Amino acid sequence: MPKPFYITTAIDYTNGAPHIGHAYEKVLADVIARYHRLKGDEVFFLTGVDQHGQKVQQSAEKVGLPPQQFVDEITAKFIALWEKLEVRYDGWAATTDPLHKKCVQGILQRLYDEEQIYKDKQEGYYSVRQEQFLTDKERGSDGEFGPQWGEIEHRTEENYYFRLAQHREWLLGYLQSERGRDCVTPHFRQVELVNAVEKLSGDLCISRPKSRLSWGIELPFDRDYVNYVWFDALTNYISFAGYDPTISSFILQPSSFQNKWPALHVIGKDILIPAHGIYWPIMLHALGFPDEQMPKLLVHGWWNISGAKMSKSLGNVVDPDSLADKYGAEALRYYLMSDIVSGKDADFSEERLVERHNSDLANSLGNLLNRTLNMVQRYRGGGLTRVSPERTSADVTSGYTELVRRFEAALPTHESNRAIEAVIENVSFFNGFIDANAPWALAKSSAPSDQARLTEVLYDCTESIRIFAILISPVLPAAAEGIFDQLNWKMALAGREERFSLGEVKWGQLPDGHVVGKPMPLFPRIERDPA
Ligand code: ME8
Ligand code: MG
Repeated sequence: MPKPFYITTAIDYTNGAPHIGHAYEKVLADVIARYHRLKGDEVFFLTGVDQHGQKVQQSAEKVGLPPQQFVDEITAKFIALWEKLEVRYDGWAATTDPLHKKCVQGILQRLYDEEQIYKDKQEGYYSVRQEQFLTDKERGSDGEFGPQWGEIEHRTEENYYFRLAQHREWLLGYLQSERGRDCVTPHFRQVELVNAVEKLSGDLCISRPKSRLSWGIELPFDRDYVNYVWFDALTNYISFAGYDPTISSFILQPSSFQNKWPALHVIGKDILIPAHGIYWPIMLHALGFPDEQMPKLLVHGWWNISGAKMSKSLGNVVDPDSLADKYGAEALRYYLMSDIVSGKDADFSEERLVERHNSDLANSLGNLLNRTLNMVQRYRGGGLTRVSPERTSADVTSGYTELVRRFEAALPTHESNRAIEAVIENVSFFNGFIDANAPWALAKSSAPSDQARLTEVLYDCTESIRIFAILISPVLPAAAEGIFDQLNWKMALAGREERFSLGEVKWGQLPDGHVVGKPMPLFPRIERDPA
């Protein structure tokens, strides 16, 4: 049985409303999942929310709500946003889910029994305000702890530690092995990771005494402590995939779990080191996952605002929910997927969002659809005459071949911007093709060769639109449906199985005598308020 393609995203902190970075990551993962469905792969797409931890506890206290109610309200905003943005996931990972808690506790117990977790005493300077121990790294150039740490006291605290350092050599070896060498995309992030692992020393504190943090998962072997939030959060990728923590051999895990795993994790650049690049593979290794079952990591860049980091304190946080209301979910999806180079940072700009929509979708793709269907209606009463691929003109054929080549080249590295670029350039070719062939002039001519050429031009344009709809469907699912509807194509299948398939991106599928529907504007131009 072929394995489903298992894709996950970082689970978002529920200590505030979703922002544009969250929306970007979910849409990116959704587009990748949809590309796989297009290929005919079975997909399991998991996303969710990270609900525990100190920051959440503090935010809930500030607004005077019990933490569960606080996170439930924010979680509802994330769920509503994913629905609005057409993010189609198969599993929902909320870390207060009892199923997840049970799995985390099972893992903790097993690692404790196997002496991968031990208790130790920590003594040193402690910042009451930041609720953390300070090391020499936190000292300023004057050797003192700065004012940002508030009151400093000397403290002794007992905690539980996970033997991270013991697995450092294994991780280094893995990252240099055949499989591990390219487990991180883009490659420059893999290089950063190896450098970080080389410097790794010390174990990971995985507990917090309840006296200072109660909003977390209790350690099963010591109820005075809760689990450190990253250990809890990372585990979501296996707990919601059906992992059984009581079984230490990977190959004895339930087949429903083995079938999904390993995953592709889609994460932002800030959580590669140390969480996903160091803690997580070491946790999996300690749990008995073999090297060939280690996940792959797709690390994306960040959206900034005029070159600056988005932050609550700067008041420049971009709200995807209101943008989707203002411009439509698909205009937003299109912008997020087309105006950033994979792996790199980008600057968010509402002007660019409008510009990209108007130039690529309204003026280019929408215009091609509209004028083509209008002409097929006017000159041929809506009916097409098929031109066999062998008789299709060379410029159309070579443009098509190049489109498919570029589209397929962008897939393995998940470069949505390059896939979109290939489509939009071919759309422009066809708008130029119409201008060059001037169907309106051909229609007036009674010469049989002109009429034959008109028939051919109309078929080529309509067939190209069918292919564009399929290729753009992961990014613009609703618009692609709209295009198929107007083409009057594959109506019977709607809702019963995937309406779009990469296998149908083959030139010449529209049959002889096919009758298209009436054109309706799909991408109305966005007019901006005069500044
Ligand atoms: O890190 N542009 O949650 P989070 C693009 N709960 N992506 C951005 C971004 C921006 N401006 N800001 C944040 C967490 N992100 C943890 C994850 S996973 C087991 C636990 C991305 O809400 C960020 O890189 O702070 C991360 O991948 C995701 O949004 C969630 O960030
Ligand atoms: Mg963050």
